[in-house]
Parts: sequence; C-alpha cells; structure tokens
Amino acid sequence: MDDETGQAHVDGGDSLAKIEGLRTDFADEAGEVRNLAELEELRSRYVGRKRGQLTAIFDSMGTLPPEARGPVGRAANHARQEITRQLGEIKASLNKDIRNEVPPLDVTLPGRSKKAGSLHPITLALQEIVGVFTRMGYTVVGGPEVEHDYYNFEALNIPRDHPARDSQDTLYLDNNWLLRTHTSPVQIRTMEGQEPPLAIIVPGRVYRRDTPDATHTPSFVQCEGLLVDRDITMADLRGTLDHFVKALFGPQTQTRLRPGYFPFTEPSAEMDANAGNGWIEMLGCGMVHPAVFEKIGYDPDEWQGFAFGMGVDRIAAMRYGISDIRTLYENDARFLRQFAG
Ligand code: PHE
Repeated sequence: MDDETGQAHVDGGDSLAKIEGLRTDFADEAGEVRNLAELEELRSRYVGRKRGQLTAIFDSMGTLPPEARGPVGRAANHARQEITRQLGEIKASLNKDIRNEVPPLDVTLPGRSKKAGSLHPITLALQEIVGVFTRMGYTVVGGPEVEHDYYNFEALNIPRDHPARDSQDTLYLDNNWLLRTHTSPVQIRTMEGQEPPLAIIVPGRVYRRDTPDATHTPSFVQCEGLLVDRDITMADLRGTLDHFVKALFGPQTQTRLRPGYFPFTEPSAEMDANAGNGWIEMLGCGMVHPAVFEKIGYDPDEWQGFAFGMGVDRIAAMRYGISDIRTLYENDARFLRQFAG
C-alpha cells in the first residue's frame, strides 16, 4: 500500500509488510533453534520487552496515521500470538529432548569409587588383641594346625582319660595326629626351644568336633598367651589380664576371676568382663602347672608363669555387637562391608 502523501515512515502498509517479514523470518529462525538458550535469544529478539522487533512495532503505533493503527495493531497482535505459540511449542519439544538425553560426560565430577575390601572382624579383633600384648613386650609366635597328640594333650598334662580327649571333641587324622583343639601346644613348642624368661602371644586357628550354633563353630580362632619369669604370681596374671580387658573394652570395664579347671594350669580360672551390659566370660587362664615345666625341663622352683587362652570369635562378637558367630564364617559381603574403613 502506497502512501499518497509520500510519507513512507508513517505509512501503515509499510508496517504491515514489516510484520509479514518478521513472521517469515521468525519461522525460518525457529527451525534452527537447538537449545533453550537459543530459544530465549530468539524470543527476546522478536517479542522481548527491550529489543523485540515486534515490540518495536507496537511501540511505534503512535506515529502511524490514525486510520492505519487498527489494521497494523491487529496484524501485530496476530503475529505476536503466532510467534508466542510457536515459541511455546519449541520449548516443549526441547524439554522433551532434554529428558531423553543422555547426560554429557562431566569429566570434572569425582569418579565413582570402587568398593574397597575390608579386614574381617576376626582379623580386626586379633590385631587389637595382639597389639595390646606386643605393646607390653610379648612376642607373636605361631604353630602348626596339624598337631601331634603329645603337644596338644600329653605335654599339657592332659591325662588319657580327660574329656578333652574324647573323640567327640577332637578331629583325629590318625592315632597320633590331630587338628589342634587349642593354641596351647604352642606353649610347649616355644618352651622346648627357648630358655626362660619369655612372653609370647599366639594367635591361631583351632578345630573342634562341634555342631555349629550361635556360639560354636567347628573351626575358630584362639589367642594364647604365656609368660614365664622369676617370682611370677597370680597377681601378675590378674593385673595383666585386667589391663588387657580394659584396653579392649574401655577403662570402665570390670573384670573378675572365677575358679576354673585346666589340666595344664594350677590354679586355673576363668576371667569374666563387664563393660556395662553384664558379665561375659572372656578367657581361660591360670598359673603354669609345675608338671608342664618339668616335662619340658624348666625348674618349677626357679620359674613360674601364667598362661591364658581366649576365643577371638567371641571377643570379636562382643566387640562389634555380633549376636551369632556363624555370620563370621558365611562371608556375606553385606555383613563384612560394615567393618570397612
Ligand atoms: N587352652 C584352653 C582352652 O582351649 C584355654 C587356656 C589357655 C586355659 C591357657 C588356660 C591357659 O580352653
């Protein structure tokens, strides 16, 4: 539409052509939009408050001849509606793409760490137990799991008719060889090869013919201790073991000795501990029996000693609040993982 007055800048036809141009340009550009930032940039260039080209047409309405304002206004409104509708459609489809998109690899994120293995609770308990004694000067010693009757029983003053010899308890390989039922044979092996004084701690696996239940397994871990020196009394035993129990379960832990019986110690006792939840049996102990010293050639008038033995499984159970020691042998990774770190 040409303006008869020749005032093209205020001509309504000019504005209508411009609006039409904006609509086709917008349609072309809209096809190129690849993300929300580009979409926003497009929106602001066409219908944005400050730099929108269509907005500029609305703003310039006042400069149009009055009769042109109606048609230009309507055309501009249509164009704005159309553009706004298309912007909405593009936005919806971009959002859908984003939801389906595989997130880009962010190399700055910390890697997903592989679950590291953890020490077994028995190993952890053993490390604590052994640590307490090595700090007192004890030496760690080991011995064979396949043991001779002499070391497992005979030298430990366990007479032929002792119930510990009952085939119910012992796993025999033949008449003389067996799977050791306790770590005490290492006392004999150590004293045989060494002159007193000595102080040893012996962690090790032992075997018994037991039916598994919450407190028994046919194979378990024991920790033995033996100290031989001059003028050793029951007070040394008590003080040492009391220190040990407090080191493990806390200084407020109480201990008590109850009379017990082991053929290789005299007197013998059991030590109970109470860390606040009642008395629990911790270990067997006693003064080394003179008959044991005589068998390996120590003079019992010159040397005295004390010995003790404990079930590490049971101590681990107490230490970590495990109610069924069978879980220690099931190797369920979910159980073991709790002891990591
Ligand atoms: N060997 C004993 C047991 O297996 C424990 C023990 C060790 C007792 C040393 C006294 C001295 O039950």
